[in-house]
Amino acid sequence: MARNKSEYVCSECGEVSPKWAGQCGSCKGWNCLTEVLAAPQPKGGGGSSRFAGYAGEKVKVVKLGEVEVSTEMQSSTGISEMDRVLGGGLVQGSVVLIGGDPGIGKSTLLLQVMVKLAAEMSVLYVSGEESARQISLRARRLEVAPSRLNLLTETQAEQILATAQTLKPRVLVIDSIQTIYTEELQAAPGSVSQVRESSARLVRYAKQTGTAIFLVGHVTKEGNLAGPRVLEHMVDTVLYFEGESGSRYRVIRSIKNRFGAVNELGVFAMTELGLKEVTNPSAIFLSRHESPVAGTITLVTREGSRPLLVELQALVDESHLSNPRRVTIGLEQNRLAMLLAVLHRHGGVASYDQDVFINVVGGVRVMEPAADLAVILSILSSLRNRPIAEGTVVFGEVGLVGEVRPIPGGEERLREAAKHGFTRAIIPKANRPRKAIEGIEVMAISRLSEALSVL
Ligand code: TYD
Ligand code: MG
Repeated sequence: MARNKSEYVCSECGEVSPKWAGQCGSCKGWNCLTEVLAAPQPKGGGGSSRFAGYAGEKVKVVKLGEVEVSTEMQSSTGISEMDRVLGGGLVQGSVVLIGGDPGIGKSTLLLQVMVKLAAEMSVLYVSGEESARQISLRARRLEVAPSRLNLLTETQAEQILATAQTLKPRVLVIDSIQTIYTEELQAAPGSVSQVRESSARLVRYAKQTGTAIFLVGHVTKEGNLAGPRVLEHMVDTVLYFEGESGSRYRVIRSIKNRFGAVNELGVFAMTELGLKEVTNPSAIFLSRHESPVAGTITLVTREGSRPLLVELQALVDESHLSNPRRVTIGLEQNRLAMLLAVLHRHGGVASYDQDVFINVVGGVRVMEPAADLAVILSILSSLRNRPIAEGTVVFGEVGLVGEVRPIPGGEERLREAAKHGFTRAIIPKANRPRKAIEGIEVMAISRLSEALSVL
């Protein structure tokens, strides 16, 4: 086979040059050129699209309404939390990227899912990191019967694709994409160009054959997926494995999904028998205090389409620093600074001489503004050393002029709170449900000052 031509792409500005150089000719950045395969020139009339067939089928226009979509395109993985983050189930021809820190459980989860799937369809598990013996030991440890799972320990993309073409699996797992290389590039496995090129081939294979592919991706120290950002653009779904070190809970978050809602959350617990799904996550993120404690409050947040009860803790303590500390875990720090300013201007509560620490218990990350009201009330509760009445939940966004703004899904959140035995809710006025929800008394407010008087 003739070697394909290489070219060099600047990772900073995207400039393409035919020769390698230490400095990019366009943006003048140093050491940012990486080797990539030159895109093949389309041979006479079409065939260049990644959806076109092997033999360069004719490109044709179709009516969207006439595209056939069978309902069984999505199949369940047998693990409902996994189905949830995938947007309902496994989609034929889709490529799913699963990222996460080393040792968090990516291989464990995929092995569990694939053993289940292998009972119904042909599955090929390609490992570039572990030997067949190691994987077999893990399967034994998980007490699953992997008899029908096909295993391949290989790192060369061409070999993997050739095997896949003969075996024709419905699902293909690549663990991990950083170990895979194509012989057409000289760069080392794991380098930007290798990751990009190998993934491009796998994605093309998935689209052409309808095989569902799972790619395992490592994350860098900064928490990004190693390899180029283009990897996230190429795939259909990006899932992140999160979890506090030391905690046995693992959360899978979908941050991109062409087939479902993003920010959907799947919750698992790591046990001696692998990952077990947690179907009622609200229960695990709430700690039950024997008597009400100052500085803690329960917040109803929403992860994807599911309301989730989490505990928010604040500690406000006299500061001896000229710049008092503002520390958040699980929340955005700038948001805290903003809320402290709002609390000062519209609530008359100053905190310039106090250190403020906020923690979302259980390692959950709350990214929505619905946490604002809870943050303010927990700070106030800690500052005044006055506990918030037992059985209270809070949600609502707080604006810069001291107004309490509505948030999406208010009624659902109230229902979730009622389900867990909460009896009182402090919520934005516009979120007040039209019909009272049984078991929960609603206090609807429109200004921050009203919330403060609640305490
Ligand atoms: P692993 O799936 O190998 O992580 P990754 O592929 O993301 O790097 O993670 C395995 C970790 O989980 C390891 O630290 C041991 C632990 N573990 C359990 O606690 N119980 C189990 O049943 C298994 C298989 C692993
Ligand atoms: Mg692994």
